[in-house]
Amino acid sequence: SNGAFQAYRASLLHFNDDPAFHQNAYSWHEDGLLIVNDGHVHVAGDYAQLVDFLPPGTPLHDYRGKLIVPGFIDTHVHYPQTDMIASPAPGLLPWLDKYTFPTERKFADPAHAAQVASFFLDELLRCGTTSAMVYCTVHPQSVDAFFGASEARNLRMVAGKVLMDRNCPEFLQDTPESGARDSEALIQKWHKRGRQLYAITPRFAPTSSEAQLELAGALAKAYPDTYLQTHVAENTDEVAWVKSLFPQARSYMDVYDRYGMLRPRSMYAHCIWLDDADRQRMSETGSAISICPTSNLFLGSGLFDFERADAARVPLSLATDVGGGTSFSMLQTMNEAYKVARMGGSYLPALRMFYLATLGGARAMQLDGTIGSFVPGAEADFIVLDPQATALLARRTERTENLEELLFAIAMLGDDRTVAATYAAGRPVHRRAN
Ligand code: GUN
Ligand code: ZN
Repeated sequence: SNGAFQAYRASLLHFNDDPAFHQNAYSWHEDGLLIVNDGHVHVAGDYAQLVDFLPPGTPLHDYRGKLIVPGFIDTHVHYPQTDMIASPAPGLLPWLDKYTFPTERKFADPAHAAQVASFFLDELLRCGTTSAMVYCTVHPQSVDAFFGASEARNLRMVAGKVLMDRNCPEFLQDTPESGARDSEALIQKWHKRGRQLYAITPRFAPTSSEAQLELAGALAKAYPDTYLQTHVAENTDEVAWVKSLFPQARSYMDVYDRYGMLRPRSMYAHCIWLDDADRQRMSETGSAISICPTSNLFLGSGLFDFERADAARVPLSLATDVGGGTSFSMLQTMNEAYKVARMGGSYLPALRMFYLATLGGARAMQLDGTIGSFVPGAEADFIVLDPQATALLARRTERTENLEELLFAIAMLGDDRTVAATYAAGRPVHRRAN
């Protein structure tokens, strides 16, 4: 039977490489057809070339006038911080003390955690984000709640229990041993169960003892196909604090390096105050950067240096960092990434931004071929973008003269309203109300 086939007619865009470094890095089909079979991409191409090969009886969804791209990938976001997005504070450390820690305390309650996880995932899907690397809280039950909600929607998500055993309120502390034991149990329960993947999650160097970092590094080595995620070099006060806590380390990044945390599938958020030696180490170990522009501007942390990161060829990805970030939308995140690049004397074409939010994220997570593009066999996570979502966007996009201008207008003016529909593993998981 052909019952598992579905076809979608629209303009199609996806990437096979980073357009900053390669010609012909993307495929663009103005009148395209995406054929999905059993939750996976069967083929993507020109409508005229593929329509004759559609198995008879295949449902054909007509999205002409709209643009289908792979679902966005947000490589750094805190689901427990959903309820404290847009909380004012003069910088990272006071913001953590005043809002973040009290908010995360509530996730000791599994019912609260489940309710927030459900809202959070629906919000991601409304914004067109189909995969994310997610921080839970120190409570193992916050991880069960998150993966339960993700599994129910059949989303490919990476998440983990926060490890922190010092320099934070006692009610949020684990111990080196309990943190490692709980993480290992969660790995065994959730890693590779359906589409779920586990990330070992030391919050950041200041809130982990040396004993805890040691055990986190050992876990990363014992389970090399798990992820590792943390924050690094976000804020100058934080960098100075790390220097005083770890006087023997060459740099903030070197703290993690000493514990064996630089490796493929390690995702480092922010990376603003790195030096070239740090970037070199990231590049040679296959560690990746998660760029969080709305958060960095909101908290006054600094401007990410695209030029130096590219010079070292570190894998780059884009992220919202909600609740430090001010929007769940990867389009709004592109808007601010563009301005951050401009302020640093760099230029981010819209094509590069769409790459970073799709295949770039997948590559940084070593999941290319699985998510982030329409290569045959990839999981069918895709979104339908509407260039006429608002009167202004319609007026502007009508007047664009090439693909770059169209994508640029969508990146600057777009938000959740621009996402007409979201599909995960070939199933509709969000449809915008008109
Ligand atoms: N550094 C340590 N914890 C956090 C957090 O929750 N958000 C951000 N933006 N930075 C951090
Ligand atoms: Zn963060």
